Amino acid sequence: MKKASTALRADDARELDWWKNAVIYEVYPRSFQDTNGDGIGDLNGITKRLDYLKELGVDAIWLTPVYRSPHVDFGYDISDYMSIDPQYGTLEDFDRLVAEATERHIRVVLDMVMNHTSDQHQWFIQSRSSRENPYRDWYMWRDGRAGNASARRQPPNNWQSLFGHSAWQWHQPTRQYYYHKFYVEQPDLNWHNPAVHEAFRQVMAFWLKRGVGGFRFDAITTLFEDPGLADEGVLVDKDGKPMINAFGDPQLDGSKTDNQPGVHEVIQEMRAEADKFISSKFPGTRVLIGETYLHNIGDLKKMYGTPEKPEFHLPMNTQVGMINRLDVTEFRQKLIDAETHLGDHIPLLLFDNHDKPRIDARYGDGVHDIDIQRVIATILLASRGAALIYYGDEIGMKTTPPSRRDEVKDPMGIAGWPEEKGRDGERTPMQWNATRNAGFTSGTPWLPVPPSAKTINVRTEKSDPNSLLAWYKTLIRLKKTVPAFANGANIMLDTENTQVLSWMRQAAGAPQVVVCVNFTACKVVADLTLGETGMRPRKLKTLLKSPDGADSLVTSRIVLGPYGAYIGEVV
Ligand code: GLC
Ligand code: CA
Repeated sequence: MKKASTALRADDARELDWWKNAVIYEVYPRSFQDTNGDGIGDLNGITKRLDYLKELGVDAIWLTPVYRSPHVDFGYDISDYMSIDPQYGTLEDFDRLVAEATERHIRVVLDMVMNHTSDQHQWFIQSRSSRENPYRDWYMWRDGRAGNASARRQPPNNWQSLFGHSAWQWHQPTRQYYYHKFYVEQPDLNWHNPAVHEAFRQVMAFWLKRGVGGFRFDAITTLFEDPGLADEGVLVDKDGKPMINAFGDPQLDGSKTDNQPGVHEVIQEMRAEADKFISSKFPGTRVLIGETYLHNIGDLKKMYGTPEKPEFHLPMNTQVGMINRLDVTEFRQKLIDAETHLGDHIPLLLFDNHDKPRIDARYGDGVHDIDIQRVIATILLASRGAALIYYGDEIGMKTTPPSRRDEVKDPMGIAGWPEEKGRDGERTPMQWNATRNAGFTSGTPWLPVPPSAKTINVRTEKSDPNSLLAWYKTLIRLKKTVPAFANGANIMLDTENTQVLSWMRQAAGAPQVVVCVNFTACKVVADLTLGETGMRPRKLKTLLKSPDGADSLVTSRIVLGPYGAYIGEVV
């Protein structure tokens, strides 16, 4: 009898490995495209814009939560994990989005919020109804520090919400506190309770059966807290004085509420659940992405798990993208870390998301912003691994925070005003064209369209070969077609240079590719001696260069204009 071949066909491998060199595009559904005139983006809007995303070249879209929600945290407070919020559409709309995306070979990745639910979720409504309710233990109920008598009532400890003030909320009817790492309306689930695990396995299966390409796991490092409820340390400044955060509270060290034991076991469990749905067919591997703000590369590596107990395929590497200043040496070091300390794992780079001011605000100088955004895009898309793009970054959308407190929509911006203006500024409507509402809605947009939409928009940039949009498109095409970009190693070049970051992509049997980006507003020269071999490229074929910004002089030296970028193939 002939033994069945275990080798994968080329097609199968593509479906199984799709995430390894993937471009994943984050959509903030509320702000992407409105189709019914209520000023709020919806699923049909995303479906309508799939051709745009296809043309851009993305492999997957990650949608921030679209489940039923009271929208205190704009979807991150979920009241039913197995339905679509009416503001965004229906389950039928969702299925249509997945079907239409599938046709264009785009996967749909959902957000999975397991740390907390909405206080309007049936689980919590049950839980708070009495201390004897079977759901009581699904959440974190605790007595006050010195009992629950009103005269001496104090929260169990000093833990704080990331969105300001105590993380403990007193519940008068059942006379106990509950814990919330985020808003009061987002009570934390109790992950010591096996029923909570089972509930989330079911939620995942529900969406995996509908064909989703995977999940992005929200706030994953905060699932567990110190069972002893010990106080967290207070950070002090150089004079030994307690540091105060934007909400006027002492700045805590997070040592008892972040990265506590138990997190890895939960990720392993959810990975095993998702792996049951792997097939060689679309959507192939169901990718698990982690929201992993970890400052140390060793901790990030652990998030991938082991061959026996795999965890995330792609835990976010925030160490490169959140450096927040153009420091060549720091970038070089963090990229070397990603290349050398993660074993065989695939890095997931990103520079932006719906929680951070956009790239202009963190890297721009107000003069060369577009050039600087080209530099950032080049690092993002010409480095090894998967890349995450936040909607609007491909056209250079600007952070546009509210100018008055009474305009703020994100509650943390109301609590923290004026120091903390909240996250509205990076969530403004997608800028499709130069009309009044930028083509986002025919109604009144839920957040104002920034004035910059007049020039920064898809329609204008589509017809300009030197636009940022054109740059992104070309980079993505190169990422997909240049052999060394598929999985070629990242090797840093010219490593003493403090003005230019240069690297080479190298893969067996493929021509080497050199990339260099200027981190300064001056004209500079990059030395492209190929690594320690001291070899110089004999000839370079330019694949991409900044408009008026880069020229190859002699083969091993490239002149870069202010914030110029250059990509060339060694021939
Ligand atoms: C994550 C989300 C953020 C949300 C928080 C609570 O950090 O990215 O937007 O507010 O979790 O769910
Ligand atoms: Ca709408």
